[in-house]
Amino acid sequence: MTHDVIVVGSGAAGLTAALALAETRSVLVLAKGGLSGGSTAWAQGGIAAVLDEGDTFEDHIRDTMIAGAGLNRLETVEYVVERAPHSIERLIKLGVPFNQAEGPGENDLHLTREGGHSHRRIVHVDDATGWAVQEALLKAAQANPNITLLPGRACVDLITGKHEARYSGSGRVWGVYALDEATGTVEAHTARATILATGGAGRVYQFSTAPRGATGDGIAMAWRAGARVSNMEMMQFHPTCLHNLETKNFLITEAVRGEGGHLLNPRTGHRYMPDYDARAELAPRDVVARANDAEIKRDGLDFVHLDISHRPPEFVRQHFPTIHEKLLGLGIDMTTQPIPVVPAQHYTCGGIVIDLAGRTDLPNLYAAGECTESGLHGANRLASNSLLECFVFGEAAAADILARWDAFDAPPPVRAWDESRVTDSDEEVVIKQNWTEIRRFMWNYVGIVRTTKRLERAAHRIAMMSGEVEDYYGHFRIGTDLIELRNLLQCADLIVRSALARHESRGLHYILDYPETLAEAKDTVLVP
Ligand code: FAD
Ligand code: SIN
Repeated sequence: MTHDVIVVGSGAAGLTAALALAETRSVLVLAKGGLSGGSTAWAQGGIAAVLDEGDTFEDHIRDTMIAGAGLNRLETVEYVVERAPHSIERLIKLGVPFNQAEGPGENDLHLTREGGHSHRRIVHVDDATGWAVQEALLKAAQANPNITLLPGRACVDLITGKHEARYSGSGRVWGVYALDEATGTVEAHTARATILATGGAGRVYQFSTAPRGATGDGIAMAWRAGARVSNMEMMQFHPTCLHNLETKNFLITEAVRGEGGHLLNPRTGHRYMPDYDARAELAPRDVVARANDAEIKRDGLDFVHLDISHRPPEFVRQHFPTIHEKLLGLGIDMTTQPIPVVPAQHYTCGGIVIDLAGRTDLPNLYAAGECTESGLHGANRLASNSLLECFVFGEAAAADILARWDAFDAPPPVRAWDESRVTDSDEEVVIKQNWTEIRRFMWNYVGIVRTTKRLERAAHRIAMMSGEVEDYYGHFRIGTDLIELRNLLQCADLIVRSALARHESRGLHYILDYPETLAEAKDTVLVP
């Protein structure tokens, strides 16, 4: 099937791009699983934008650069921060019901606070911002006759020159091969331009706040097709994921600390963050996650406590209705009790290298959102800058495609997916075993605090598993699990190679063999 543009992913980045393109072009949106299955729907805290009178773009830019430990590209940070108020306006027009401030200036939006921000600047919909954003974007996309939404399609690989029926040598990307998850068949979808908006690779770690499908598919597909990836060692760990043996990946938003929550050592009751950083609980995430990790490891704890019970119960219930209700269901009343929390993987700062127009290295291929490395986050993402990046780059990619439309040729005939030499697998256990193994060794060897020796152990395991997974991929009919396993392993390899290449500690990359930060901040760029 041919469309003008293909967008892979139906989260904040993908749907923003699709809506902007659909003003004049036909757009096909493909999504693995359901249309709201990405991280967007799970976002809690909100979206950062300078909207307060006392706040300035300069301050938001400086906070972003401080959190990013100077590895950010200033040009990108300025580009995104300056477009934030416009992005919020657009979301309001789409019907996102952001919370309003109470009292004087009643028409203003309520702004909450998160770690690393020098001002209140986070717009939000209670503590379930992502769900409201996803709903509004999806409703608009469903109502748009120029957008075709196809859920249940797991893209396998990009269609490039080597898949053309008659090789043209143009080196262009012409779309994707996608598995229909219902029928098990792989179809070729072609277009003049393709945008990857496939989200992060969080599920490469055993403990992650990200949804099941965050397996780095777009990053791996772009890498296999020949695009550079950058800063993959910069994996963000959120300091406060609920510790509960049944509910494994429920986030407790940073806004709980923003509104006064304290971190306590459960053994001594001591509020320890001021011992680690003058900004206490509102230090950037890497600092707080390392402090939590250090307390847990030093005292042999299972978790630390996040306590907001000193604030009035009505205030807590009003600000955090979703979390309050979820915890009550698990027997924890956050208005009177502390919440047990642990750090968990949360966000992939690295990814496909893009420029300010969302262009990748490959002609006709764009990317936006968490699968990219745009230069915004540097060595550590500032809280609530991620959804913002999705809106700004979703729109930028669409604008560039529309502006250069005449330069995009119609796609040529491409070869159909070849399944003639594969059979049905009789050993699904191989996939499960490898999934579990990758996520375990990445957590233990490539986690919050790293050493060269542990990274080398991880690299050794990845090398051993790569042969087995490729062999399996080459012989058996593919399903979503196998596609994801292959991509997880590819991403694990990119993360470990990047981590081994950085001989300093900076932001999220903290390695005991190189504790100092070098004078010059340099990206880790991997070239296929
Ligand atoms: P996603 O929303 O993850 O969407 C990815 C899409 O790609 C999905 O539709 C998926 O199905 C599709 N896809 C993936 N692989 C394939 C494939 N092979 N084939 C076809 N489709 C595919 N950020 C903030 O700024 N503020 C917050 O408050 C905030 N809270 C968060 C809370 C949680 C629990 C989590 C996990 C993240 C949070 N983040 C927050 C981060 C933010 O939500 C994400 O970075 C952002 O939503 C990513 O959007 P995206 O469009 O890039 O990808
Ligand atoms: C949170 O609500 O703590 C998550 C915010 C973010 O990831 O930016």
